[in-house]
Amino acid sequence: MRVAAAAALTELEREILAPGAGLDRLRLARAPFVPEVRLHLAEDAIVWWARMEAYAGHPLPPPYWASVWAGGQALARHLLDHPELAAGRRVLDLAAGSGLVAIAAALAGADRVVANDIDPYAVAAVTVNARANRVAVAAIGGDLLDSEPTGVDLLVAGDVLYSPAMAARMLPFLRRVASAGADVLVGDPGRGHLPADGLTVVASYPVPTTEPAVDSPVRRVLVLRPR
Ligand SMILES: C[S@@+](CC[C@H](N)C(=O)[O-])C[C@H]1O[C@@H](n2cnc3c(N)ncnc32)[C@H](O)[C@@H]1O
Repeated sequence: MRVAAAAALTELEREILAPGAGLDRLRLARAPFVPEVRLHLAEDAIVWWARMEAYAGHPLPPPYWASVWAGGQALARHLLDHPELAAGRRVLDLAAGSGLVAIAAALAGADRVVANDIDPYAVAAVTVNARANRVAVAAIGGDLLDSEPTGVDLLVAGDVLYSPAMAARMLPFLRRVASAGADVLVGDPGRGHLPADGLTVVASYPVPTTEPAVDSPVRRVLVLRPR
């Protein structure tokens, strides 16, 4: 994973230095609901992905990190508006994508922030995005969902309940981390995989829609905590 993430970082740095002018480029943009944070995002993630796959000559994972997600935006907004949740704490951003939530935690004064994702390109994206926001975030790859993470005071997970398979692995992990004593916050835009109980709603945000398939200009996103 380290080798793959290092290679992905070289690719992203090359893309950032020479972005081109088409839909297949990356550009540094403010997250609409979290304008304090700037991210290297794809102008059109599908077009960027197609070009990168053609360049690589083999399939690449979907570039989730190249878009902003409603769940991550609500969670990042929540941390910046309630900095006491992260200040002075050791924070793990799980399934971090672009690293938006991790960067918000760092801006809120976290003592140490780690961002984890299984996609080596996401690990690389966290590195370039943390750099763009002048914050320290340690980006790590690998799948932590079967592990028992230690040294975490606050675990944040934005938009992670997006499929039945992901929810089935993610929810027991989040509960385990919470019962081990860490604070756990989830940002969820209602993709239909929230359990009927076991989570308390902490806040609710109207997040501007960034996904083409959604009709409404805003999406209601809940910030939840396992109980
Ligand atoms: C919808 S994106 C959300 C990204 C980010 N949390 C946000 O809200 O902007 C979901 C992310 O989960 C990551 N992912 C999927 N399975 C994972 C796993 N087992 N461990 C870590 N990350 C995972 C994907 O690579 C992707 O970056």
